[in-house]
Amino acid sequence: MDDVFDPATRGLDRKFLEDVWRGLSAPQKTLPCEYLYDETGSNLFEQITELPEYYPTRTEIGILTNHAAEIAAALGPNIVLVEYGAGASTKTRILLDALTDPAGYIPIDVSEDFLLQTADQLRAEYPGLPVTPMVGNFMADLQLPSDVTGKAVGFFPGSTLGNLSDDEIHRFMRQARHLLGADGRFVLGIDLRKSPDILVPAYDDAAGVTADFNLNLLTRINRDLNANFDRAGFAHRALWNDSASRIEMHLLSLKDQSVEIAGRQFDFSEGETIHTENSRKFDLDQLRQHFTAAGWALELKWLDPSAYFAVLLLRAAD
Ligand code: AVI
Repeated sequence: MDDVFDPATRGLDRKFLEDVWRGLSAPQKTLPCEYLYDETGSNLFEQITELPEYYPTRTEIGILTNHAAEIAAALGPNIVLVEYGAGASTKTRILLDALTDPAGYIPIDVSEDFLLQTADQLRAEYPGLPVTPMVGNFMADLQLPSDVTGKAVGFFPGSTLGNLSDDEIHRFMRQARHLLGADGRFVLGIDLRKSPDILVPAYDDAAGVTADFNLNLLTRINRDLNANFDRAGFAHRALWNDSASRIEMHLLSLKDQSVEIAGRQFDFSEGETIHTENSRKFDLDQLRQHFTAAGWALELKWLDPSAYFAVLLLRAAD
């Protein structure tokens, strides 16, 4: 890292700058997918979830709605729902409405403003339900508030697990096991492997919303890190990587070009890409090994009729 007194970097978000500089210095240029979600990116992602090609959100909502009574019966009364990433309010409400005497709701999110807003909404809609927001990164070592009474059940919908590497999945599942305790349960939404004919359009929609979502990362870097990316010099690409069982999002450089980011120059040749996101599509047997290694056992699962998506119920194991 350069001198902290360098005027070109003064006042900038150091972590973001270091991540961007490091990612764009690698032979395969890459940018961490967490930076896709500034305010514009989060709004674009909300629009993605409503696109005709993007099947995961409506499929998962369908599974939760159709099986809400079974899920609630399996969980029993006196549940404290601990949601990782407090964005999925439609899905949360389906579970809260089905549960018998829920004992609390604990949303965890890095964005304090958004978290407090979600918490206020839920308090208004579920009078009497204790709502205890926790600000933090879900990969961090968090502790439940000491006054929580009830059985802790984690909720991680949307197949966000699919945006993590093997190592990150392991760390996250271990942390969750620690947070939720020896009697903990976990409700997870998981996107399953399927034909690339369905997968690729889900990440490269006809209206171009996913392209905007991906390209917005360059706009964000320009704004937040004093950079001069020419957005029109890059194009969105979504590729199916069969051996890794994942959709990859890339930004393809349409010409030879140079970009300056907080005083440092990066060169792109025509046809070179920046890898911006992986969205893994799982096979349940392979996932089961991850769960076992992190101290979880698969208890029940619910799928939609096309087996596009699964909602899993895990139980803490030794
Ligand atoms: C948040 N995550 C589960 C989405 C996915 O499907 O991997 C992010 C996304 N990227 C492009 N479209 C949606």
